[in-house]
Amino acid sequence: MKKITIAIDGFSSTGKSTIAKQLAKALNYVYVDTGAMYRAVALYALRKGYVGENGENSDGLIADLPSISLKFQKNEETGNADMFLNGENVENEIRTLRVSNVVSTVAAISEVRQKLVEQQQKMGIEKGVVMDGRDIGTVVFPDAELKLFMTASADKRAIRRYKELLDKGEDVAYEDVLKNVQERDHIDTTREDSPLVKAEDAIEFDNSDMGIDEQFERIHNYSLRVIEKA
Ligand code: DC
Repeated sequence: MKKITIAIDGFSSTGKSTIAKQLAKALNYVYVDTGAMYRAVALYALRKGYVGENGENSDGLIADLPSISLKFQKNEETGNADMFLNGENVENEIRTLRVSNVVSTVAAISEVRQKLVEQQQKMGIEKGVVMDGRDIGTVVFPDAELKLFMTASADKRAIRRYKELLDKGEDVAYEDVLKNVQERDHIDTTREDSPLVKAEDAIEFDNSDMGIDEQFERIHNYSLRVIEKA
């Protein structure tokens, strides 16, 4: 059967990655979490002081981009692909609120986007890929055969994120998580380079009141129909 490209875009904490991972597994496709790539660059920028308490030095980060190497490597224990930054497994660290607080600023830098988009296009060149992010259906793979756009209310998303962070043992306040979700929505949708918008041909999915199982079943069935016709 012909392989297709599946682009899943949407707001933060809409469950994109959960659905994308399940879908890739069911279809035997490769899953690429592009948010992890932006998060790893943001972690690098934090460590080097290009963002954070001392303000923003985007020129410094841009000049240093060639020293950043990103790789996904399968974790045999979890079965998922972990993000490696210059050979170091940073999968857990990139999910912290400290990184979430600066990632949208880093992701708004055009040079960062150019570097990552190029890598993402190479990863999907052979199709058979489910990629999630903010600009996959609009910029990375505008010709993707299936595009989904996920939304949910900000408070529902903040509750999900808050529970996830608590489960991981992070000591966070719900108000801070909600503020982060709202700030990221604002930066992601208003940045000049590739803002988060629904591609014209994307199917919108509001999952504020839908469980993961129901969502997955609908999306899986729909993808099978698209693959059949491809
Ligand atoms: O999906 P996520 O929450 O892990 O993404 C982290 C941030 O990275 C998000 O706030 C916006 C940015 N991002 C982006 O600009 N483009 C992508 N394709 C993926 C993520």
